[in-house]
This record gives sequence, C-alpha cells and structure tokens, in this order.
Amino acid sequence: MTNNLPSILVIDDDRDLRYSLRRVLSAHGYPVIEAGSGEEALEIVKKQKPPVVLLDNRMEGMSGIETLQHLRGAHPDGMIILMTAFGTTQTAIEAMKYGAFDYVMKPFDPPKILSLVEKALQSIRDQDAAGRGYKPLLNSADYQEGIVGNSEAMQTVIKTIGRVAASDVTVLITGESGTGKELVARCLHQHSLRAKAPFVAVNCAAIPENLIESELFGHEKGAFTGANAQKLGRFELCDGGTIFLDEIGDMALATQTKILRAIQEGEIQRVGGTGTIKVNVRLVTATNKNLEQMVAQKTFREDLYYRLNVVRLRLPPLRERKEDIPLLVDFMFQRLGARRKVKANRLAPEALEALVRYDWPGNVRELENAIHRAGVVARGDTVLLKDLPPEITDSSGLPVVPPVRPAATPSLVSPLPTGGKVATEQTDIFDMLYKQLRATSDENILAIVEEQIIRRALAETHHNHLKSSKILGMNRATLKKRADSLDAR
Ligand SMILES: Nc1ncnc2c1ncn2[C@@H]1O[C@H](COP(=O)(O)OP(=O)(O)OP(=O)(O)O)[C@@H](O)[C@H]1O
Ligand SMILES: [Mg+2]
Repeated sequence: MTNNLPSILVIDDDRDLRYSLRRVLSAHGYPVIEAGSGEEALEIVKKQKPPVVLLDNRMEGMSGIETLQHLRGAHPDGMIILMTAFGTTQTAIEAMKYGAFDYVMKPFDPPKILSLVEKALQSIRDQDAAGRGYKPLLNSADYQEGIVGNSEAMQTVIKTIGRVAASDVTVLITGESGTGKELVARCLHQHSLRAKAPFVAVNCAAIPENLIESELFGHEKGAFTGANAQKLGRFELCDGGTIFLDEIGDMALATQTKILRAIQEGEIQRVGGTGTIKVNVRLVTATNKNLEQMVAQKTFREDLYYRLNVVRLRLPPLRERKEDIPLLVDFMFQRLGARRKVKANRLAPEALEALVRYDWPGNVRELENAIHRAGVVARGDTVLLKDLPPEITDSSGLPVVPPVRPAATPSLVSPLPTGGKVATEQTDIFDMLYKQLRATSDENILAIVEEQIIRRALAETHHNHLKSSKILGMNRATLKKRADSLDAR
C-alpha cells in the first residue's frame, strides 16, 4: 500500500509518549519518524524534512525551546508544534517567539493532536497556494555567502569566485552600480588564505586627487604642509590582506602610474619618504566604467589595465537575470527579519510580478531599498502591490483606470488622486474615503457617497438626467428624484 500522507516527526524523550503518538497518527495514515532527543532530531532533519514536527518541551539534554530554535534554522519550512507538560504563558510566548506553529498542553487527547496536525498541514497548503510556487523561506545555509542568485550568469560568477579566491590572482570586477561588486570583493577575501588579515576598501572616486597618494601610500612627517605626523597608507595597513580599489576607472593617470609600480615591484614609497617598503597585498579592483574604451582613449594606462584584468568577473545587471528576483527578495526579508527591522516575509504574487516587470536601473541595491521600504509599509507579513514604491508599480504595465474627472462641486475628500493610476490605487482611494468618512461622520455613509457620486455625474453631463443615469447605472426616474432633492438643499 502506498502512503502519500506527509510524515510527522515526533520528538520526545519519553518512549511511552512517542509510542502513543505514533499509534494515533499512524492510525490516520501519517508515517511517523521518532527522535528521543533534540540532538537526534537535528540529525534527522539534515536528511529528511518532515513538514510537521511535534516537539516535547521538557527533555533531558537540549530543551524543547532550544531544539525549536535550532530546528528553525535547519528546517525553516517545518511546522513545529510544541508540547508542554506544565504550560506557562512564558513557554507559550517563547514558543511563538521562536517560530513555533502552535503549542499544546499535556496531557492531550488524540483528536486535539490530530486537528493541530491537520491545521499545520493546511497552513502549508495555504502558503503554497498564496505563493503560487514561490517558496517564502529557504534554508539559511543557502545564504551564508551573502551572494544570492540562481541565474546562469550569477552561478558563473559564484563558481569563478570559488575557483580564484584561494589563489593570489588579481581580480577586476565590472558591473553597473549596485550589482554587488563590493560584495564579491569581500567574498573573494573571505575565501582566500588571507581571510584573517585585513580587507581594506578604498573608494578611489571619493578621495581628492591631491590626497590619494598619501592615502594609499602614507606620508612622512613634514612631507607637505599639514603633514604633522607620519601616517601609514592603506597599502601598508593592509599588509598580508586584500586591498580593494573601488571605482578604479576614476583614478587620475598620475596615480595609476604609482599603483602600477606598487604592483610590479611589490613595494611602495611613502610621500616624502626616501626608502621603499615591501608590501604584500592582494589586489582586487572594481569599476562601472568601460576600461577598454578608456584605454583606447588613453585615459587609462594600458599596462595597468593588463595587470588588473588578470581574472575578470562581470556582474550582470539585474534586468538580465530577473529570475533571481524571488530569491533575492527572500534573502532580503530574512536579513531584515533577523535584524527585526520588518515583519513582512513574503510577497503577494502581484507584487512579485511588478518587481519582475521593472527595469532596475539601480540593480540589487535599488531592489534592497524597495524591499526595505515596502516591508516597513506593509501591514502584515505580506507585501502587497500597493506597498511598493510608485516608480516600480507605475511601470508595471497594469491596466490603467480612466482618469477621474475633476469635481465640479467642492470635493468631500481632498485631495482625491486624479489622473491615470494603476488599478490598485483605486482601492486606496476607496480605503481613504471610507476611513475618512468613518472618522468624520455618524450619518449614513452610503448616502454621503451616493450624493457625491450623483453630483459628479450631473456636473459631468451638465445636468443631463438621461446621460447621468446611464453613467451611474440608475433608473432615470430615481435619478431625477435624487437630483431634485439635492437641488432642494
Ligand atoms: N547577488 C547578491 N545577493 C545578495 N545581495 C546582493 C547581491 N548583489 C548585491 N547585493 C546587495 O546589494 C547592495 C549593493 O551591492 P554592492 O555595494 O556590492 O554594489 P556595487 O556594485 O559595489 O555598487 P556601486 O557600483 O554603486 O558601488 C549591497 O547591500 C549588497 O549586499
Ligand atoms: Mg561599490
């Protein structure tokens, strides 16, 4: 007999209790996996991911709450039901805080357990349906690198990072603004043998030209006016580590020459100094400029270009890998959630569609900002289309609602947005209107709205009752009666 019901993991150090739970659950067709401790359970979820977990709170060794916290990390999609013998509010709050689906007091009767299990499974089905295949949570281990992307282009980048990180090879990272150049540079460092030594980032575009040499190579006391003490440069400070020269395309030709010497000789000279100093750094550079073109125009030294461009990592713009958007958003929610910045952790399908349709000139950074803002604005745990910034929804190509005519009579609710807006703004208008009316009037709200709508139709048609009744879908006689009573006021 095949059994298609999802399996349930029962974690309890009491064998008798495991046995009775197994009997109840398997009598209803659920396969049961047993664990005698939290430690054992964590081993099990490495291999299997049972959708529902029944977890005893009081256990020898790792407690239920502790196990819960570990399980949430190792098996974030699992619905965990905590079983507590001596239920206190404290445990209940803790359980929910750490992400339990629900909790149940012992001793419990079989129907209660069964109905909770059914509820948990139903909730999984609801989530799947709401997400329409979009998986709201991924195993946090997938995100350890901080670089997210399943697209072929990003996979190529990630594989290249893996291949070259441990060698000392010079890497040039190119890509539009916000595509993750600095992130990749840091990742290269973290995976290199230099990981324990410093990672020093220098934004070449942010340092004035007359200061950059001293910034990079340091200076001796008295080297120039204002040089009151000796100062070590970034190259020296970075000794043994990775120096990341960001916006290298914005570096003046004179500085380029000095960088070239530092790379070729492996030594630097402080400004105003006489001797040379050996430095051992790995060089990673980045730019959003077209260096090949700059070389052709002689604004970038060709010999330096070849030194920097040993391994090239091209970061694709987000619009060329839109399939990564769901994963990135999910990652961002997790990160924001972990920092307790936002509660939202999923996107409504329409919101995701809008994100996928948008062009993302600011790439991942822009997406990150949008998600942060939307997460703050969102009421519950789902970001709706209307929570997204307007520049994103405006370009989303949704059917445009015909413009609302300017009111001929004084407006009840002002300002009422007019002009072509996306469909969802319509609900916003009604939402605003409704709330305002609720707050300001005890009268029949419908009558107020009706009056305003009739007034507008009459104004638009220059008091033509026939035309107005057609617009409003109202019987002409009824309209006339209402219009007369309005006139009478
Ligand atoms: N693949 C990615 N996965 C997760 N986060 C990413 C990814 N790419 C970029 N980010 C995030 O987007 C933001 C911008 O990335 P980063 O600063 O590395 O971009 P950049 O290319 O250096 O931009 P700029 O050219 O403007 O300096 C960062 O917060 C980074 O963590
Ligand atoms: Mg950058």
